[in-house]
Amino acid sequence: MPFDELRSVVEKLESDIASGPIVPTVTPHEIRGYLASRYDFTKPLALDEVGADIEWMLRTWQVHVTHPRYFGLFNPSATLASVVADTLVAMYNPQLAAWRTSPAANEIERHTLAWLTGKFGLPAETIATFTSGGAEANLSAVIAALTRAFPDYGEGGLRRLAASPTIYLTGEAHHSFNKIAHMTGLGRRAIRTVATDGHLKMDLGDLARRVAEDRRGGLAPFMVVGTAGTTAAGAIDPLPDLARFCRAEELWFHVDAAWGGAAIISPRLRGHLAGIDAADSITCDAHKWFSVPMGAGMFFCRHPEAVREAFHAETSYMPAKTAGAVFDPYTTSVQWSRRFIGLKLFLALAQHGESGYIEMIEHQARMGDVLREALKGAGWRVVNTTPLPLVCFTRDGLDTAKFLAALYQRQIAWMSEVRLGGGAPVLRACITSFRTTESDIQWVVREMSRLT
Ligand SMILES: Cc1ncc(COP(=O)(O)O)c(C=O)c1O
Repeated sequence: MPFDELRSVVEKLESDIASGPIVPTVTPHEIRGYLASRYDFTKPLALDEVGADIEWMLRTWQVHVTHPRYFGLFNPSATLASVVADTLVAMYNPQLAAWRTSPAANEIERHTLAWLTGKFGLPAETIATFTSGGAEANLSAVIAALTRAFPDYGEGGLRRLAASPTIYLTGEAHHSFNKIAHMTGLGRRAIRTVATDGHLKMDLGDLARRVAEDRRGGLAPFMVVGTAGTTAAGAIDPLPDLARFCRAEELWFHVDAAWGGAAIISPRLRGHLAGIDAADSITCDAHKWFSVPMGAGMFFCRHPEAVREAFHAETSYMPAKTAGAVFDPYTTSVQWSRRFIGLKLFLALAQHGESGYIEMIEHQARMGDVLREALKGAGWRVVNTTPLPLVCFTRDGLDTAKFLAALYQRQIAWMSEVRLGGGAPVLRACITSFRTTESDIQWVVREMSRLT
């Protein structure tokens, strides 16, 4: 593959995006009219022509999440190596369902996941797979936990259980768990919302009270989800306390570190994830802070037998199992046909090395500090507490919706609004690009002051 040509295409795109608008103004009607007028698929079109048109549409009608001033929802800028990787994957189209079909790709994924398993401090027998994203990894965790806690669940289903299983998390945990409760048949009411403290971390006392109360009420608590880097505010639940509580109460301890998990490789930040090594399972997304294109989630579980039991499948039409210490991902994960998701993390890690990755992650953490201080200096009130680069802030009398509309209209930056702990809306800005510089941040904060 001509890597140099691809590099110059990607670098040109990056600089075009960085100097262009961040937020589009377009209506669904406009896009649908454009597509209908050009693409009725009745006659073939030249690839060059269509490709150029698609690029024009993507440039014009998209929030540019790779823009250095996109301070958004954990969507990263992608490293060149990871773009190369996704291109290679599309070209070779390896099928990873069975080891035998794609030995190289399967072993590259296993090798990459083993590296991160070690960083998390999980045991060597941990089973890990790449997933479409964090939601699938969280789903995998709930299914594995149910399978381990309730041996009848797999064959007989929830209706065979004597008591209704319940999961404990805070209102700040990711909402994928509500969908998962729906999808697994647990029901959305199986999600028990635990109170948070003043820093939006799970309140251990309330957790203990709720678990005891539910047991007395005839329910069957089986799982606690601690979040390491909540979506709205970047809060990290008290992982060591949760680990101890779960061990004592025989509950599955899942850590949703979809975004924050990457901090484990940073000497400066990893202390904030202390306790994650005691997790029964972990979610971590490569397509968040590891800066690779979507979708690249990861699921880690220290109980291989629970994972094998949860996802086992025997068919005559799949390639026979390969002898030895290998597993076929279609028998250990939600997916069947399986894209070579892990190459983008492998290639980026190989190119940048661990030290390059640490620098990228710590740079973003530093930019988070710069943003926090610059906002405070400009009179904003920071309302969240996190060592991660995510700042929630407000000002008396601020109309967040109006403010954001003006911010987008002037193409200053992309940020969002959130309600923390169900309170009034505040602004949320997260450093998601390794390209964001201190001068980007100072410029944005200065321009924001002119809007209020
Ligand atoms: C804490 C957390 N968990 C899970 C998810 C879901 O991940 P994905 O969007 O990759 O499915 C997110 C998404 O932002 C998240 O922030």
